[in-house]
Amino acid sequence: MLPADCKLPIANCQLYSHSVLMLKKNLSTLVFVFIRIAGLPFYYCSLLCRTSYQIIIPANTYAPWLKDRKFLRLFRKVKRNSLVNKYQCWELWKAMEQVGKVQGDILEVGVWRGSTSIIMGAKLKALGSSKQIYACDTFEGVAKAAGPNDNYYKGGEHSNTSLNMVEGLIKEQGLGNIVLLKGTFPDETGANIDRERFSFCHIDVDAYQSGRDVLEWLWDRLNPGGIVIFNDYGFPLTKGITHLVNEQYQKNDRLVMHNLNGNGIIIKIK
Ligand SMILES: C[S@@+](CC[C@H](N)C(=O)[O-])C[C@H]1O[C@@H](n2cnc3c(N)ncnc32)[C@H](O)[C@@H]1O
Repeated sequence: MLPADCKLPIANCQLYSHSVLMLKKNLSTLVFVFIRIAGLPFYYCSLLCRTSYQIIIPANTYAPWLKDRKFLRLFRKVKRNSLVNKYQCWELWKAMEQVGKVQGDILEVGVWRGSTSIIMGAKLKALGSSKQIYACDTFEGVAKAAGPNDNYYKGGEHSNTSLNMVEGLIKEQGLGNIVLLKGTFPDETGANIDRERFSFCHIDVDAYQSGRDVLEWLWDRLNPGGIVIFNDYGFPLTKGITHLVNEQYQKNDRLVMHNLNGNGIIIKIK
């Protein structure tokens, strides 16, 4: 489109408009190329150190959350109380649309201040879903850490929360579909929901043994087609969870996928 006050000959105006359009279109590509070049030292560092960790910058630029106002508004509200990045939160938000295809409720273990529970709860409410979220946490910090597979967590981290605080944050959002269970899961609170069936589980517990116990408890209660998302897949401080998800690859009753946003995804197929 030409600028309304364009006084140049018509051909020049078209050229100008075309250039502006191309610049706009290519700006994200230019930014991407710049970031790629800036990331080169990290790339060579990881090669030199012979590690399987490096800073990842995917080449795709499709970012649908930028046009989802409801998601962005909610994320802006919860992010000060969140340990989970926007891309992972978006995946949970979108996953709630998918889980309608599978029967069963939602389980979350690793709530901290409730941001991911709230994101899932708000989406389910918007969809008019009758699914409940059982959101489980010690509310006293990470449990069962410091095992041989854990490289950072020692136990007790993220204790700066409380059941009361999270109840308040959920109430602020007007959500009635989240049930909070306080205690180590599944040891102390699993019995409360022993007879439930699930379609989806978000596991954000930071430590290997904790994640493993949750997955084992859940598996027979997860309906086929059900999804498990491990939040801590591939992060440098939670190598135990990466190890745990990688162990699932050999099992025949599940599909395992590595999402570059840091979510390890497991789908139950039988
Ligand atoms: C990284 S935080 C969770 C972050 C949260 N999902 C968010 O939206 O910001 C990890 C939480 O896992 C909890 N946790 C770890 N192992 C647990 C277990 N076995 N049972 C219950 N809670 C556990 C900790 O108390 C901590 O609050």
